[in-house]
Amino acid sequence: MQGFRVAVVGATGAVGREIIKTLYERNFPIKDIVALASARSVGQEISFGDKRVLKVQNLDTFDFSTTDIGLFSPGGAISAVHAPRAAAAGCIVIDNTSHFRMEPDVPLVIPEVNPQALHKIRRGIVANPNCSTMQMLVALKPLHDRAKIKRIVVATYQSVSGAGKEGMDELFSQTKASFVNDPATPQIFTKPIAFNCIPHIDVFMEDGSTKEEWKMVVETKKILDPDIAVHATCVRVPVFIGHSEAINVEFHTPLTPDEARAIWREAPGVVVVDHREDGGYITPLESAGEDATYVSRIRRDPTVEHGLAFWCVSDNLRKGAALNAVQIAETLVEMKLIGQKAA
Ligand SMILES: NC(=O)c1ccc[n+]([C@@H]2O[C@H](COP(=O)([O-])OP(=O)(O)OC[C@H]3O[C@@H](n4cnc5c(N)ncnc54)[C@H](OP(=O)(O)O)[C@@H]3O)[C@@H](O)[C@H]2O)c1
Repeated sequence: MQGFRVAVVGATGAVGREIIKTLYERNFPIKDIVALASARSVGQEISFGDKRVLKVQNLDTFDFSTTDIGLFSPGGAISAVHAPRAAAAGCIVIDNTSHFRMEPDVPLVIPEVNPQALHKIRRGIVANPNCSTMQMLVALKPLHDRAKIKRIVVATYQSVSGAGKEGMDELFSQTKASFVNDPATPQIFTKPIAFNCIPHIDVFMEDGSTKEEWKMVVETKKILDPDIAVHATCVRVPVFIGHSEAINVEFHTPLTPDEARAIWREAPGVVVVDHREDGGYITPLESAGEDATYVSRIRRDPTVEHGLAFWCVSDNLRKGAALNAVQIAETLVEMKLIGQKAA
């Protein structure tokens, strides 16, 4: 049988489950697939399509020597140990965690933006960008090609699934508790998330920004252009799935909203929904389960010489994580950068 031997690491998590679903839906050429997680989950069952059930195996004891591709999302500390172990066994690792993203010899790839970086896989590891960076750059790359971006100011409205299955559980339980007047006790988030917004994602840095904001800055420079100035404010909001972003861009040369609209109509991965009327825009609820990065509310930003403002929404578990990882695998196959190990 033609196809690859694939391991999904962190298979019981929010991203891992979506990866398994995406591999099946996109009919990725699979000869064999294994689901890996911690010892806690061994024996748990995960569906692969309608007919097949995968029994979760223990990552700690799994031998990657016959695995072609490993799609990893077990958290940074776990990837730090097991991604190099899998790579040393000849498995190409596509890692969703932030652990390897900024290492110079690890390509950080969005297939619509910088697929050429895949020619430089030195350590057997490819990194998947942060979910907020991902959707922003899918939208901005075709505009940058036309008018060269000078500066980006972005505010994010990030869903709780960005903090994994426990983040989703916390919004659900706090929402339920509020109806019976139970106090909301934050565990995953630093303040109540139900009926609230929290301007704090990941740890604080020395300059007062958070690490999530820092990731948007440095990943944009690594993936798109080191000369672009970026300022981000990242906010957690009580939405289950789908990140939203209000983005202001300053270009070096003129670009009108109509020109941007025309460019986006041809751009891979982007869908424009922009009617200047009630409901003529996309909300995160509508993006859940979809592959596209949606662009709405396109207008001139008159506060700078060549400015554009828009609203950008995407499913953080799909394009923000699982879909991009699977697209990287598909691109590796198309570019003939990955082979199948002998049986
Ligand atoms: N959610 C997003 O939108 C998103 C987007 C991009 C990147 N990411 C990154 O992807 C990673 C996973 O995120 P998530 O949202 O899927 O988290 P999650 O829902 O909490 O899932 C974590 C997964 O990692 C596994 N895991 C934890 N400790 C492990 C260990 N010691 N050994 C093996 N497996 C272990 C868990 O298995 P058990 O069930 O056995 O504990 C589970 O399968 C994080 O690094 C996150 O930053 C997330």
